[in-house]
Amino acid sequence: MLIRKPSDIKSSEITPERTYLNRRALLQAAGFAGAGTLLSDALAADDAIPAKYQRLAGVRKSPFSTTEAPNKFEEITGYNNFYEFGTGKDDPAAASGRFRPKPWKVKVDGEAEVTGTFDYDSIVKPHVLEERIYRFRCVEAWSMIVPWVGIPLGDVLKRYKPTSKARYVAFETVVRPEEMPGQKYPVLDWPYVEGLTMAEAMHPLTLLVVGVYGVELPNQNGAPLRLMVPWKYGFKSIKSIVRISFTEQQPPTTWNLAAPGEYGFYANVNPKVDHPRWSQASERRVSSGLGSLFAARQPTLPFNGYADQVASLYKGLDLVRNF
Ligand code: MTE
Repeated sequence: MLIRKPSDIKSSEITPERTYLNRRALLQAAGFAGAGTLLSDALAADDAIPAKYQRLAGVRKSPFSTTEAPNKFEEITGYNNFYEFGTGKDDPAAASGRFRPKPWKVKVDGEAEVTGTFDYDSIVKPHVLEERIYRFRCVEAWSMIVPWVGIPLGDVLKRYKPTSKARYVAFETVVRPEEMPGQKYPVLDWPYVEGLTMAEAMHPLTLLVVGVYGVELPNQNGAPLRLMVPWKYGFKSIKSIVRISFTEQQPPTTWNLAAPGEYGFYANVNPKVDHPRWSQASERRVSSGLGSLFAARQPTLPFNGYADQVASLYKGLDLVRNF
């Protein structure tokens, strides 16, 4: 997402991701990865989940799930944006092994009656976990289908009793350069920060995510707590959250600070408003198996396909100016 000098960019980033992933499929098809790899590609994704990830108990299915087939676990956890661990798509998986998501505390402050520092269990345990299979659209015009596990964010926020002055909710990612090697470089202003309007934060589709594919969230996907706002570009879905603040003023957001002409506060998926450096009219589904040989671009839908549920939040707002 960041504009960098060619010498800063790794070859895995220059190669369009489809070609990059297709290359693996081609190697497999040619027999280089062995017959077993091809076979496991065709098996249920459950088989591909490493045993080190703890299975989450009591997860209930959600009517908000799409019926589209989810991406594989290895795709969701191997192709990431998490600049705290590096700017390459494979950096987060490779460089997040030292990150310790337990124990975890979140500071809740600002315009709310209940404020303070709360540990992970006190935030998550009072709620029933839901599996929500969501469409996920990155601003870089790739997409995935992901079976997240989480809790409606609004149910969590209500417990802190926001006051009538709370118009926005701001979020902050942890800063731990010793565990997050990317934070040793000023590629972004650390900590990564994001924000939503109160109405967006309380919307039933907005999820506080704790897992994926029925297991706890891998480090590269934002362990132990991240946001998922399915009708917005992926950069709104901030990872490894350590602070939630209720505010009266619109909070600053990391990508808007870095490039205000490219990344707005709203960031609603909108095929009619192009990013200055690429079209948003269509997207490529990330794919790694033989299927990727045939994967075509598909049209991007307004609000990423969630218009019926969320378009009313923006009545009267000029979505071209408020991108
Ligand atoms: N959160 C933090 N703290 N740092 C990041 O670099 N990247 C964002 C978002 N949240 C990012 C972040 C972007 S650009 C995207 S597309 C999604 O995380 C990627 O989520 P995923 O890697 O789980 O697919």
